[in-house]
Formats: sequence, structure tokens, C-alpha cells
Amino acid sequence: MQSHRLGQTELYLSPVGLGGWALGGGTDWGPTDETAACNTLAAALDAGITFLDTAPIYGQSEALIGRALQGRRQRVVLAGKCGLVKNGSWTDHDLRPQTLIRQLEESLTRLQTDYLDLYQIHYPDPKVPLEAALETLVRLREQGKIRYIGLCNVTEAELRRAAAVCKIASVQNEFSLLHPQKGRAVLPACRELGIGFIGYGTLCGGILSGKYRQEPNLRRADARNYFYKCYRGDAFLQANQTAARVKELADQKHTCAAAVAGAWALEQAGVSGVLMGARTAEQVRQNAQAAQVALTEEEMHFLENDK
Ligand SMILES: NC(=O)c1ccc[n+]([C@@H]2O[C@H](COP(=O)([O-])OP(=O)(O)OC[C@H]3O[C@@H](n4cnc5c(N)ncnc54)[C@H](OP(=O)(O)O)[C@@H]3O)[C@@H](O)[C@H]2O)c1
Repeated sequence: MQSHRLGQTELYLSPVGLGGWALGGGTDWGPTDETAACNTLAAALDAGITFLDTAPIYGQSEALIGRALQGRRQRVVLAGKCGLVKNGSWTDHDLRPQTLIRQLEESLTRLQTDYLDLYQIHYPDPKVPLEAALETLVRLREQGKIRYIGLCNVTEAELRRAAAVCKIASVQNEFSLLHPQKGRAVLPACRELGIGFIGYGTLCGGILSGKYRQEPNLRRADARNYFYKCYRGDAFLQANQTAARVKELADQKHTCAAAVAGAWALEQAGVSGVLMGARTAEQVRQNAQAAQVALTEEEMHFLENDK
């Protein structure tokens, strides 16, 4: 897989990255099958995926990745996050300095490494100014514990405020055929400022692979229910219409729907990479194919139902 430079950094990513959220299980995705998770990570590395993304709140994700990377840490770009804390079934925002310092130390231990390539603020915290949180991260960068600083889930205004404080390597926002606006809202500013863009939730939790013929019976706390919000009623029907277009084009191009959904995001100017979650080796092998699919302008319009 040909690597992409992340913004103006010295990090080169495989355009398809493996996201560790679903892999790690926990309350958001249900119990993890550790053997399947280990096989998924091994299959990702074998398929040329060199970009791994995780967070302390992603269940067992960090520990599983730490084990998978033994002896091959240097081969990957390892991205972590800070500033979200699980409190029972509730998730709190916390960008206070002591939390960021503690979270990084704990992540490094679980990941069995002494540095992260990219450390990202998971969400802005209404109680702590972004500027103050970035100052803490700059100190951690000076200590050599992180190489680059990134942001997730930000608006253009927040991005510009952050870029005035320190060098920002990347923005990671949701970006899929179902939710293109959160990516498009910041992509022009990323291009202007030389900041990389990483899209997440490319399959909207799996629905864009075309796998759901009817509404799945999900737990209330399942991430697909509360986060992606396209698994019930009219939202489900509309999402499945988009998934049907993705599948139709994938059939014409002799590939799978997941690869086409990933390719759609990768085709947009300024996108450095996409994070696709997977829980099996077969899924990750399919998702990796997104890097090989080229889409014409006409095909992009077809996918977006934009005649
Ligand atoms: N910064 C943030 O706030 C944020 C938020 C969300 C996600 N992310 C990052 O982005 C990554 C990806 O997002 P995500 O995992 O939430 O969503 P996603 O990539 O849209 O969906 C992942 C899920 O889709 C299903 N799937 C994956 N590949 C498939 C295939 N080829 N065929 C059929 N089903 C397939 C799997 O679930 P099943 O097997 O259970 O069906 C998998 O767990 C995360 O892991 C995380 O690293 C970041």
C-alpha cells in the first residue's frame, strides 16, 4: 500500500488505517473475542496497514495493540488520544493537565512503547480551554513521549485557534458517505494550513458494507445506537439506500462495498487517511482494498446521489 504523508509531518501512513475502537470491545461494542482481535491485527499488518489508531477508552484495544506490536513497533504509525474518561457507562470530557499526563503514561504502559507518533485531543472540553490543553501536550512532545499533536472532532474555528498555539499535525473527524459534512467543514482549512486530515467512521459502524438487511437488534449502549444513529427507523432505511448504491458500484468494479466506501473518502482532496474498524481478519483484508480502488467523478456523484 503506497503511503501518504500526514500534512507537513515526517509521518507516512498507509491510506487505510485500522481503528481500534470496535476491536477493543467494552461497553460500546460488547465483549471482545481476543483470538479474533489478534488475528485481525496480524491480518492488518500483513495487508500493508501501517497506521493504527486507539484510545484509553476503547476497551482492551491498547493492550491488544501493544501485544501485536512486540518486535514491530517501528513499522507502524501509532496514534493515541487523550481527554475522554469513562465514568461507569458515562463518558466525561477532561483535558486538565494532570489527566493528560496520567492518560499518556497509562497508554504507553498498555501499548508497551515509550512514545506515540501522534497524540490527539479526543474532544474539546467545555471546561478547559483548548489552548491550555495544547500547552500540556507541547510539554509532553518536548519530553519525547509524543512526536506530533493532533485534534479530533473540531470545528474550523477550533482548528484555527489550536494552530495559533502550536504545530498541529492532523485533524481526525467523522467522514463517511452518510456524514460527509463533519469532514468537509474542516478540509479546506486543513489544506490551507498544511494540516493532515484523517476520516473516521467510514462505514458508519458497518452499515455501508451493506450487511444489514433489517434493523439489527443492538444493545442500547452499543456504539452503533448512540454514536452513528443510523440503525433505527427512517435513518436506517436511508442509510441502506446509500449502502445499496455502494454495493451496486462495488459489483460493477469487482470489489467489495467496504472498499468502495473507503475509496470515496480517500478520493477527497486533502484526506491523508481513513480509519476503518474491523473485528475479523476478513473484514480488515476487505477494508485494505479501499487503497486500490480508484473512482471517477461520475462514480463519486453516483455514490452521493448527486445528479
Ligand atoms: N476520534 C473519534 O472521536 C473517533 C470516533 C469514532 C471512531 N474513531 C476511530 O475510527 C475507527 C473506525 O470507526 P468505527 O470502528 O467506529 O466504525 P467503522 O469503521 O465505520 O465500522 C467498524 C465496524 O464495521 C464492521 N465492519 C468493518 N469492516 C467490515 C467489512 N469489510 N464488512 C462488513 N462489516 C465490516 C465491523 O463491525 P461488526 O463486525 O460488529 O459488524 C466493525 O467493527 C475507530 O476504531 C477509531 O479508531 C474515532
